[in-house]
Amino acid sequence: MDRNTLIEKAPVVNAPLKRHVFVCTGKSCSSFGSEGVLETFWKVLADKSLLYGKRGSLEGSVLVTTCGSIGLCQVGPAVMVYPEGVWYYNVQPEDVEEIVEQHFLQNKLVERLLARHLPALI
Ligand code: FES
Repeated sequence: MDRNTLIEKAPVVNAPLKRHVFVCTGKSCSSFGSEGVLETFWKVLADKSLLYGKRGSLEGSVLVTTCGSIGLCQVGPAVMVYPEGVWYYNVQPEDVEEIVEQHFLQNKLVERLLARHLPALI
């Protein structure tokens, strides 16, 4: 498949993405309210024109998707942010604005929610 066909079939490969946020919707994180965290990310990012996709726009720079358990089950909801490789724990809907403002817009981690910061490999 050539690049143009790929872009036509999957526009996300050509999107102006800077970050991919995963919100865990595994059983435990769901029991701690991860759906509310997910919906708040969608809303806050869309309101700031940062959200990529159907709920945002094709110009958005942040893709937000769900994921399964990563092992923070007892301290969820878990949220992972890439390419930084940051894992946040116990994220509540009211924390989302701070993550977006401080981490995404000011490039400063939200230390009080930080569980892990994976090393960059490439
Ligand atoms: S269910 Fe979310 S980390 Fe395990």
